[in-house]
Order: sequence, then structure tokens, then C-alpha cells
Amino acid sequence: ANKSLLVLAGDGIGPEVMGQVRRVVDWMDRRRAVSFDLAEDLVGGAALDAHGVPLSDATLERAKTADAVLLGAVGGPKWDDLPFEKKPERGLLALRKEMELYANLRPAICFEALVEASTLKPEVVSGLDIMIVRELTGGTYFGEPRGIFDLPNGERKGINTQVYTTHEIRRVAAVAFELARKRNNRVCSSEKANVMESGVLWREEVTKLHAETYSDVELSHMYADNCGMQLVRAPKQFDVIVTDNLFGDMLSDVAAMLTGSLGMLPSASLGDPDETGQRQALYEPVHGSAPDIAGENKANPVAALLSFAMCLRYSFDLAEDADLIEEAVKAVLAAGVRTGDILAPGTRAVSTEGMGDALIAE
Ligand code: NAI
Ligand code: MG
Repeated sequence: ANKSLLVLAGDGIGPEVMGQVRRVVDWMDRRRAVSFDLAEDLVGGAALDAHGVPLSDATLERAKTADAVLLGAVGGPKWDDLPFEKKPERGLLALRKEMELYANLRPAICFEALVEASTLKPEVVSGLDIMIVRELTGGTYFGEPRGIFDLPNGERKGINTQVYTTHEIRRVAAVAFELARKRNNRVCSSEKANVMESGVLWREEVTKLHAETYSDVELSHMYADNCGMQLVRAPKQFDVIVTDNLFGDMLSDVAAMLTGSLGMLPSASLGDPDETGQRQALYEPVHGSAPDIAGENKANPVAALLSFAMCLRYSFDLAEDADLIEEAVKAVLAAGVRTGDILAPGTRAVSTEGMGDALIAE
């Protein structure tokens, strides 16, 4: 059977960048004999306008049964004054929660042509290609008890609780080890076992799982504060980093800035495998709906396209096809073709469509 893809383009620049991804999917279909059953549906503000909810039950069902979901972006000023429960962003949160996407993959790749755009020295980032795996559905952002409580003395206290179970730790660590096998075979697990009980458990469980199932992968451990420092000092020492929700939130944003523009950053969120080993999966650019440039054919489609490349690599084991896309991105950048967000002296400005043209030609 063909692989099924559900495209949820969303709002703002979402449909613009996903339009370019569609062109590449069509190209794959014609030129590479890689066929997809591709369906499109609404999410976010677009779904709110059509159905009164940012994610309909029918769309959620389609997302769960598809082999992979490709999402553009959601949100925009039109819906900003709605209460939080009704906002477009809730559609995306609901998708992540209902599909139980507990592993968030954020690669930080420094393209040679964009080395100058990094905030770090060229020799520190040149050739950089690392992957941060952030636990996404547990930890401090969800743990109970939580809340703001009145104290008898008139003060208040705010509480969040860092909670992890062995199951939650092992399943995200398994994702990291499996990814490492498809990359450079090294995992660095990051926590603060020196000061946190959950960190002690994290380290023990990752170590056990490694010994049981993944001893072919090289495993190291690093305290999360040091990891932040090392990411800025010498990021190329890493291959895959696996960490919890809170530390992963910060470390992945730090890593993102090693590489330049928001318009270049892809991501994936993975859940449990089914009987055939296929994981629940959602691929999306890191950026939002960019209302400031929406509708102007200016958005950089590379983040969305690299997200599709991740889909080919990690959901469909089509590494060669993923390589083709990534090589095309490198070549186009090297040729000086740029959307506005990555424009530099001596390069040529193109539209969203123009970037799509250049990528397909390459
Ligand atoms: P944003 O990522 O949409 O935009 C931030 C800045 O980066 C803007 O100046 C924008 O023009 C630029 N930018 C972003 N993507 C670009 C691309 N592909 N090419 C060229 N320039 C690009 O973040 P912002 O402005 O904070 O949020 C705008 C809306 O998007 C809000 O409604 C927010 O809630 C939503 N949002 C949605 C996300 C999602 O769907 N995953 C993630 C982040 C924000
Ligand atoms: Mg963040």
C-alpha cells in the first residue's frame, strides 16, 4: 500500500510553505517512484473559521490513522483575542497530546553557505549536524501538584512538579538510541542527577536500557547546565542529545541559534510504534505563521521542506530521498539563492515560489 500523508497547512505562511512541499511530493511521485496517498485538511484558525473548532474530531482521526502528518503553522492576529481554549494554537497542542507525541526531534544543522549567519565563530559551527530529542509530554510542564496557593501568612506559593516514570524515560530514550543508529551512533543523555531525584532515575533508566538493548550505541551523560555551555563552546562534540521537557525546551532553543534563521529549522514529533513498527509522527517547521509576511510570497519554505525530508528519513526509511532534498537545499544556498530572511550581500533574493523552483531544479 502507498504511504499515507496528511497535510495540515494551517494559517498565515503555513499554506504558502506547504505549497512548495506539495510540489516536491509531486516531483518525488513522478521522478523517484515514491508514491504517497496525500490528503489535506484544516487545522488552527482555518479550522476554526470552517468548523468552529481548531481541530475537528474527524481531522484528529485522520491524523491518527495517517502514516505521517505534515503541518505548516497555526495562529494569527485574526484569532488573537479569543480565549485560550478557542485559539488556533490549541489545535496543535491537541494533536500532540492526542497522538501522544512524546519525543520532539530538533536538528541543528549548519549549512556551509550560512555559516556567516551564525552568532558563533565559523570554525565552531561549520559542518555542525546534531539532533536534540526533547521529552514532550511529561516533566515539569505537566507534573502534579501544580498551581498557585495561598499561604496562612498572606504569602502565595507557585508549584510545578518534575515527575518522570521509568516508562516515560525509557520510551524517549529508545527514540534517541534508534535515531543514533541512523546517524553517528552516539547518544548524550542530559539531566541534573547531581541535584534532582528525577535526574537520578533518568540516568539509571537510560543506562539500563542502553545495556539491555542498545549497547552498540555509544552513550555518555552530561549535566544539563554543562550541556548548555558545551553547545555554545563546542557543539560538534554531540550527535544525538536526549533530555527532559524543561531542559530540552532551553537546550533546543540554544542549539537553534547556532544555525541562523527560523526559516531553516525543521522538527519532528514522534509517538509509539504500532504493530508494524511505524511510529505516530508529525513533522513541522519550528517557525510560526509569520503574520508580518503572510500572503506576500516571501516566506522561506526550507524549514517545511526539511521537515518533509525528516519524514522521509524517520517515518519511511527513505534515506536516499531525504538526502536528495537536503543536498538540494545545500546546493541552492551555495548558489546564493535566498528568501528575505537569509539574504546576505552578494546573494539573490527570490520569492517562496522562486525558492521552490530553485530547489526542484536542483
Ligand atoms: P513566527 O515564527 O511566526 O515569526 C517570527 C519572525 O520570524 C517573524 O518576523 C517572521 O516573519 C519570521 N519568520 C518565521 N518563519 C519564517 C519563514 N519561514 N520565512 C521567513 N521569515 C520567517 O513567530 P511569532 O511572530 O511569534 O508568531 C506568529 C503566530 O504564529 C502567532 O499566532 C503564534 O502563536 C503562532 N506560532 C505558531 C507556531 C506553530 O504553528 N508551530 C509556532 C510559533 C508561533
Ligand atoms: Mg521554547
